Amino acid sequence: MKLVRPDTDPVREKFALARRELSAALIERDDEVDLVLTALVAAEHVLLVGPPGSAKSLLLDAVLGWTGGTRFTTLLTKFSVPEEVVGPVSLTGLKEDRYVRITTGKLPEADYAFLDEVFKASSAILNTLLKILNERVYDAGDGVARKVPLRLCVGASNEWPSPDTGKELSALFDRFVLRKAVSPIRSQAGRQKLLWTRDHTPRLSTAVTPAEVDQARRAAASLPWSGDAKEALEAVLKELAKEGVQPGDRRQFKTVGVVRAFAFLGGADEVRPEHLEVAQHCLWDDPQEQPQKAAQVIARIANPTGMRVTQLLVEAEAVLAAADVRNLADAAKAAAKLAEIDRQLSGLTGNGRVEKARAYLKDQLRKLKLASIEAV
Ligand SMILES: Nc1ncnc2c1ncn2[C@@H]1O[C@H](COP(=O)(O)OP(=O)(O)OP(=O)(O)O)[C@@H](O)[C@H]1O
Ligand SMILES: [Mg+2]
Repeated sequence: MKLVRPDTDPVREKFALARRELSAALIERDDEVDLVLTALVAAEHVLLVGPPGSAKSLLLDAVLGWTGGTRFTTLLTKFSVPEEVVGPVSLTGLKEDRYVRITTGKLPEADYAFLDEVFKASSAILNTLLKILNERVYDAGDGVARKVPLRLCVGASNEWPSPDTGKELSALFDRFVLRKAVSPIRSQAGRQKLLWTRDHTPRLSTAVTPAEVDQARRAAASLPWSGDAKEALEAVLKELAKEGVQPGDRRQFKTVGVVRAFAFLGGADEVRPEHLEVAQHCLWDDPQEQPQKAAQVIARIANPTGMRVTQLLVEAEAVLAAADVRNLADAAKAAAKLAEIDRQLSGLTGNGRVEKARAYLKDQLRKLKLASIEAV
């Protein structure tokens, strides 16, 4: 058995606890939780795209509630005006012939921002948004580009921007280094938990200060890449290029930092190939087919445990959905398939999700047996 060293970094411990608490409250959102915490540590903006009511806001609000610091939240519509994002023009300023905005409580003064329905932003807002998100500077109107305190912007949307979208919107889309599609709950057990839990709001027992986030960021930034991991990333990029997926140079470079942050959160002291799992959410441009290609190539080359666990759980769900418990032979066949999936899981190590998945499978197997006994 692999010895697990106790984590002596108190900030990393805090992140680990928040991760567990978020994952416990949110159903089937482990990957999204990891992604948003990774974004926080990597200081790269993150975007979740999914159908209404898929817990995007619940997760993003919970994480931003956990982080201290000033926060700005807005729901954009095509009628949103710049005032809502960067503040109103100062009337006193105007009287003195100066066109400046009062940015109090708005995006230019926020440490953290949540932009809901981010692609609805009108072009009047887009340019300012781009500058703040990318260069982290804002000119209030007096010609002085001031640095903004923004550490992280989280975005949500019900759909990906359309392929023939304008240049500015594509540029905004590209500012989100981490981007993930959120799916509705898949498993039967998850659906039951959704229906019969009164309140899904995560309750976090800690809070993290901006200084602690910075500390985590510095610690993550100093993690070395192992030779194997470097080779794997280079191989992934080559393979993706062959398949026509060629994320830009900035995106490739930023991925290096994102993977470091993910490894840090996983408790590692160096980046290993399996940490490339998170790069599936960075290394593509077109949301239509490329995310699947990125995931396949990374799974093939870096073989991350987390991705194999996800895949085995999807298989298990398919077996469960197809099993007819009233037919004994059918139920026995399903049970055998589940046992085989469990055997494969038992061979995986180095990821906390393996245990969770095995416990889930054991529970499902028990329920399957009970149901088929009851049926006869
Ligand atoms: N995976 C889930 N885990 C826990 N609760 C969930 C989950 N999916 C949906 N819910 C429930 O549905 C509610 C709606 O979620 P939320 O408002 O966060 O959705 P959303 O993705 O932000 O939707 P929209 O796109 O309409 O803004 C949650 O408050 C929660 O009660
Ligand atoms: Mg929402």
